[in-house]
Amino acid sequence: MIGFFIKMKKLEKEYAQKLKDSAKEVKNPVVKAVMEAVSQDSFKHSMLYEVIAELLSKEHPFISEEVSEHIRKEIDEHISTESEMIKVVSEALEKGVSNKAAKFLLEAILRDEVFHHALLTKVNEMIIKRETFSESDMWDLIWKESVWHGTPGG
Ligand SMILES: [Fe+2]
Repeated sequence: MIGFFIKMKKLEKEYAQKLKDSAKEVKNPVVKAVMEAVSQDSFKHSMLYEVIAELLSKEHPFISEEVSEHIRKEIDEHISTESEMIKVVSEALEKGVSNKAAKFLLEAILRDEVFHHALLTKVNEMIIKRETFSESDMWDLIWKESVWHGTPGG
């Protein structure tokens, strides 16, 4: 299983680079942006696969790695930033965007921001409650709190 995740890490990284290279030749800004966005997500997946492999390779990985109060406070600020982003994007969508491509991309951003907000909020709670990351049930709540209802800010 760990071998599989290490393989996925490499595959995603290679794929991300290929997409990035292909995007360079694209003139259409929408197509270029979508390809680059998918490429960056693939780089992100590669990084996440690496952590998954690490989580599964040791019995108690990262258990002694404390998160400082200083960083925790910074996460608080990032959570506020995400809230602000959600508000701004929701308002833009509520005003109405007639360009369908622009509307689609704004909705994609909003979906990411809602997820970022839920993710950072729960991780911060885990730090405060000193939950063990590998075992915390709070991970299940992130999905519930970031459910995408398909309507702006919904
Ligand atoms: Fe965000």
